Amino acid sequence: TPVEPCDFTVFGGTGDLALRKLLPALYLRDRDGQLPDGFRIVGVSRAEADDEGYRVMVEAALVEHVPSDELDATVVRRLLGRLHHVTLDVEDVADWHRLHERLKDGAASDDVIRVFYLAVAPALFGPICDHLDQFGLATERSRVVLEKPVGTDLATARAVNEAVGRVFDESHIFRIDHYLGKESVQNLLVTRFANTFLEPLWNSHWVDHVQITVSESLGVGERGSYYDRSGALRDMVQNHLLQLLCLVAMEPPTYVDRETVRDEKLKVLQALRPMTPDLVDRDTVAGQYAAGLCDGAAAPSYADEVGHTSDTETFVAIKTEVQNWRWAGVPFYLRTGKRMSERLSEIVVVFKEPPHPMFPHSEGTSEANRLHIRVQPDEGMRLHMTAKEPGPGGIRLRPVSLDLSYATAFGQRSPDAYERLLMDVVRGNTTLFMRRDEVEAAWTWVAPILERWSEPTHRPRRYPAGTHGPFAANTLLERDGRSWQETG
Ligand code: BG6
Repeated sequence: TPVEPCDFTVFGGTGDLALRKLLPALYLRDRDGQLPDGFRIVGVSRAEADDEGYRVMVEAALVEHVPSDELDATVVRRLLGRLHHVTLDVEDVADWHRLHERLKDGAASDDVIRVFYLAVAPALFGPICDHLDQFGLATERSRVVLEKPVGTDLATARAVNEAVGRVFDESHIFRIDHYLGKESVQNLLVTRFANTFLEPLWNSHWVDHVQITVSESLGVGERGSYYDRSGALRDMVQNHLLQLLCLVAMEPPTYVDRETVRDEKLKVLQALRPMTPDLVDRDTVAGQYAAGLCDGAAAPSYADEVGHTSDTETFVAIKTEVQNWRWAGVPFYLRTGKRMSERLSEIVVVFKEPPHPMFPHSEGTSEANRLHIRVQPDEGMRLHMTAKEPGPGGIRLRPVSLDLSYATAFGQRSPDAYERLLMDVVRGNTTLFMRRDEVEAAWTWVAPILERWSEPTHRPRRYPAGTHGPFAANTLLERDGRSWQETG
């Protein structure tokens, strides 16, 4: 179903995120008939580009970032026809007049939906919202999208939320965490709550521990100047990994709507075992990649990529616990890193061994049941079980797996997370976006780790590019008699 006509304004319109993700996502929605005639896209940036120049830039980005079999020349032309560019320096009032004129002119009527996507540094979120307010652009029909990071710690996140909240009502603020838009992540809710067989087992009686891994094989590439001030804890753990943890651990909401799901996620964040300096030393590992072999090619070290030595972590492993009735005593191990051996995001729920060994004298091997939820690539689920190996002799146990591959089961491409989320913004549906209290609760939990790691004695451990991270990440589990599940 097409969405309503909208003026979709992207601050940072010539930036990496806009060109690599947002415009390709809008193209794919246009291709599938979801953008109506009156849907305009206004790129805002400091670049001295006119509409034509911007269209050339976006066309090149579509060719580069949309898979070639999805590219259709007619749709590309249609999308380019929707595009405008406004050159704007946030501090320059004359520039704001130009944006104002552009948004008030042409086909758009005054009650058109206005989306302002802020794909810029968080320090600009407040000033941009103030200007939108002054120019009468923050109306009942306007929504603002905040790209992560919302702040760089609890204090800055609060300041950003205050500043944006002075202009926009919370129901019009969309704090994006694109992991929530991934098909497999949304399916996690459906798997848990639209089936009966898992829920009775989803607790400390039957679950031994949970692992959440988001590994990437790419390095920081061109994003060094942002990343070096951020690091993996702020870039990935505070948002994406904690959101995945919330969806695994949350209680069933009465029904799925914007507030109930977010209420339940908030309770999980508030139940995370608070970190103390001792726990940070014992239960967290920071790493940074050194040169190595990655994806079959020589990869430079992080320091070489950013051009100087640095103590920024590109890898994090953490052991934590959700301190509530359901999960008491069940470790949650989180791990994320760049330049690891492969691109793989997976949640693994490891169940306990059967209470009584019924086949003590059998040959073969058995393993504890495990449910692997593959977020990407090759979205799907795999349940590891033990079966009897066929044969006339005695009982021989063998691990087997039940597999669900989305590609095979549904035979269609999974839309990119941004496609889903951008349309939710236009429709005004905040369910898959982070509420202010969630973001602040996540920063609250992360704060003691940031603090401890900022001490001069703290150094991330080096790991060769193309590996599973520093050895200490293995020790984190081995000392509990466990190990990372490396493949699904
Ligand atoms: C972004 C991080 O939020 O997520 C990047 O800033 C990271 O550093 C990216 O590479 C990973 O997203 P995806 O969808 O490729 O797993």
